[in-house]
Amino acid sequence: MNQRVGIEALAVAVPERFLSLEDLAIARGVEPAKFTAGLGGREMAVADPGEDSVALAATAVAKLLKSYAIDPNRVGMLVVGTETGVDHSKAVASYVQGLLGLPRAMRTYDTQHACYGGTAALMAASDWIAAGHAHGKAAIVVCADIARYGLRTAGEPTQGAGAVALLVSDKPDLFELDRGICGMASSHVFDFWRPLGSREAVVDGHYSINCYLEALGDAYAGYRKLALEREIVRHSEQLPSEQLSRIAYHVPFCKMAKKAHLHLRKCELKARLGRELTAEEQTAEDRAAAIAFETQVAPTLALAARIGNTYTGSLYLGLASLLHTQGASLAGKRIGMFSYGSGNSSEFFSGVVGAHASAAIAKAELDQLLASRRRVTMEEYEQVMEMNAATPPQAQPRPGTFRFVGVTDHRRRYVAG
Ligand code: CAA
Repeated sequence: MNQRVGIEALAVAVPERFLSLEDLAIARGVEPAKFTAGLGGREMAVADPGEDSVALAATAVAKLLKSYAIDPNRVGMLVVGTETGVDHSKAVASYVQGLLGLPRAMRTYDTQHACYGGTAALMAASDWIAAGHAHGKAAIVVCADIARYGLRTAGEPTQGAGAVALLVSDKPDLFELDRGICGMASSHVFDFWRPLGSREAVVDGHYSINCYLEALGDAYAGYRKLALEREIVRHSEQLPSEQLSRIAYHVPFCKMAKKAHLHLRKCELKARLGRELTAEEQTAEDRAAAIAFETQVAPTLALAARIGNTYTGSLYLGLASLLHTQGASLAGKRIGMFSYGSGNSSEFFSGVVGAHASAAIAKAELDQLLASRRRVTMEEYEQVMEMNAATPPQAQPRPGTFRFVGVTDHRRRYVAG
């Protein structure tokens, strides 16, 4: 069945506060260039306990429905990919369905596998549509997370928070998926995890980078094989990866995308030559890779540099950055996507930018979203980080947003602005 499936609309929600990474570096006695040039960021979102994964997810869905004038009756499935849910049993999706008053006749659930959970949700939604089981309906996929490592940890400058809501349908105005052309790699590793009851992730930082790169090499090899067979890329002087106009990677911190792209090229060159590069070839490759990174990957990093890690949402913030800054010139062009979830599970897939993607993404008002945030001092950041997760500050939510306001009889309560 040759069914078109992909992302029709996209909206983003972020916390009200952000911290400058330069301020963080100075306070921690670190050279600011380590966080800006070394890790590649500028700012990170700071979520207070009222801005939990449910509140961010519901806010993103409210924006999606309003900005794109989507009739909720079109929606037959709601899946939330998250690794920072609020209950061991009740799905974030069920809160979102209730808060938004979405139709009763729908499938709702959460998907979890660290940062891969959002992609798992996207694949489930697109398979549902492609299989013909949606009967003309669309799915909402939400990627919502709070990336939290804690004060004075190595991971502290790589925190962040946010939610990305996607309308997945048979009218992929933004991004049509290359269905069935994907490569997967999974293995049981302890690179990053969060034991039950812990607010902060446990991470073996440098090992997690290696796990990410190994998974990328294997997932890309699987994708490349299928992409060559299906002739969406070809054997030629250009590497297959160079035939993808852009590549968005999962971005735990912006520098990771650069490491990823260099590694992907190294894997491709090794596969082509059947051996390692000589010193001379490596020098030429260093130059080519730097240019390739600037062209193919750097445009995906605009939002990550301002928001930080959003775990499940990170890859889709990369796609949003790209469509926002280059959507018009990329119409009809193919984009590679790499999703990585620690633990681990990963997938490389691709899709094609829609003809009117630029006009469609403008509805997400991404510049206004960033401009509406408030920069906090280190003192306020530390106060927010030390707040009790169960007793959020009582602040009036802004119009169109939701906040968690407390627990009564074991029931979490939310209010809308
Ligand atoms: N000027 C410029 N650059 C500098 C510098 C300076 N003064 N000082 C250091 N740097 C550079 C370093 O050379 C290094 O760059 P390279 O990696 O390119 O060599 C970079 O800054 C970072 O320095 P360190 O490696 O010394 O930093 P660190 O040990 O303090 O921690 C980290 C870095 C491991 C990423 C840590 O922030 C961390 O644990 N983060 C959380 C885990 C994570 O994000 N893992 C990524 C893969 S797992 C995943 O993707 C899932 C997920 O979302 C978590």
